[in-house]
Amino acid sequence: MDDQLILGQYLSFEGDPRALGLAAARHEASGGVLVRDGRIAAIGDGATLRGAHRDVTVVDHGDGLILPGFIDAHVHFPQTAMIASWGKRLIDWLNSYTFPEEARFGDPDYAAEIAGRYLDLVVSNGTTTVASYCTIHPTSVDAFFDAAQTRGMRALAGKTCMDRNAPDNLRDTAQSAYDDSRALLERWHGRGRLGYVITPRFSPTSTPEQLEALGVLWAEHPECLMQTHISEQLDEIAWVRELYPEARDYLDTYETHGLLGANGLYGHAIHLEPREVDRLVEVGAALIHCPTSNTFIGSGLFNMSLADKMRVGLATDTGGGSSFSMLRTMAAAYEVAQLRGEALHPAELIWRATGGSAEALHLGDKIGRLAVGMEADLCILNLASTPAISQRHTRATTIWEAVFPTIMMGDDRAITQTYIAGRPLKPE
Ligand code: GUN
Ligand code: ZN
Repeated sequence: MDDQLILGQYLSFEGDPRALGLAAARHEASGGVLVRDGRIAAIGDGATLRGAHRDVTVVDHGDGLILPGFIDAHVHFPQTAMIASWGKRLIDWLNSYTFPEEARFGDPDYAAEIAGRYLDLVVSNGTTTVASYCTIHPTSVDAFFDAAQTRGMRALAGKTCMDRNAPDNLRDTAQSAYDDSRALLERWHGRGRLGYVITPRFSPTSTPEQLEALGVLWAEHPECLMQTHISEQLDEIAWVRELYPEARDYLDTYETHGLLGANGLYGHAIHLEPREVDRLVEVGAALIHCPTSNTFIGSGLFNMSLADKMRVGLATDTGGGSSFSMLRTMAAAYEVAQLRGEALHPAELIWRATGGSAEALHLGDKIGRLAVGMEADLCILNLASTPAISQRHTRATTIWEAVFPTIMMGDDRAITQTYIAGRPLKPE
């Protein structure tokens, strides 16, 4: 592909603004990003770059805001078609809506249809990387990775493992979970931009034998991430206590089976005990905050101050989450933190949806920031995408005031374009 110079204002962060303050922000009002072979080859003042690179294709987004593409660190692509199902708490919601839908993914055609639909939806929303749960069916993993590969996306996913407390047609075994996960890992991990994630759904749907088997697989493949859920709802925690009477706490059910480590992604993590926090910090694990899900299913309020001492990514948790949009997710993160008495700065919200999620996924050296050598996954925001946002935007005197109305009120109409490795991919 020819070199491309993408012009607009840009905003990126050198690191976590929560720790580094606004000095971590890089905002250029008339900026440019030079893309070569899918990576950022230069970034800086737009006119200067234009003068230095006269023979490149220029795409001028005017005062559109160039951001790193959004990174959604916890999703369930198979829940696309049942998102926003009314009512019920976590366990009933899983049984009533989620499991019947996930059972359909044994059909490879259906899995392919939903994988494509899901990725088109997220790209429309400015998201360039997701870490997805699939279903217990290996075909669902193949469908997801095929669809991501077709679009050139950096994507992470794994076969969801469950060998109890799920319907017959959605149960594997300890052995088949190990065998199937291993075969998928060997097929997909490190192929192009794809990465395999070992995926026990959560302790209630795995026997200790299955957790153990997946712990063994992780020990054999420590280069892979491991994703699971923890402490989302109080009923769920009480259930884990019944199912694992010997465990000190919820985290212990993972810890004693080899499923606690720096490459672990622990979704929700709302009602953690002090010991659990200490251990997660000690091993360097990452938490994934899913705010629209936590309000939608009525789970509770995540404590964002945990980000002072550990990596925290941001995620939609589609379809427990009620949106495909990381803008909507940032808004919900803001609202959840407000209910706990903390007002998150727009800089932190954008960081969590980009570099923060990238670091949670151990991809911070490849995606999530605008810098030379990084992969050219970008989204372009129109900061005046609706009449309501536009009239608010006209009063802005700083970039933070300019972007915050779009964070709070924006949706896919605010996404002018999404570039995957330099390729514009927003569906018409
Ligand atoms: N816990 C276990 N599985 C799920 C799921 O699919 N969604 C949510 N929100 N929580 C879970
Ligand atoms: Zn989830």
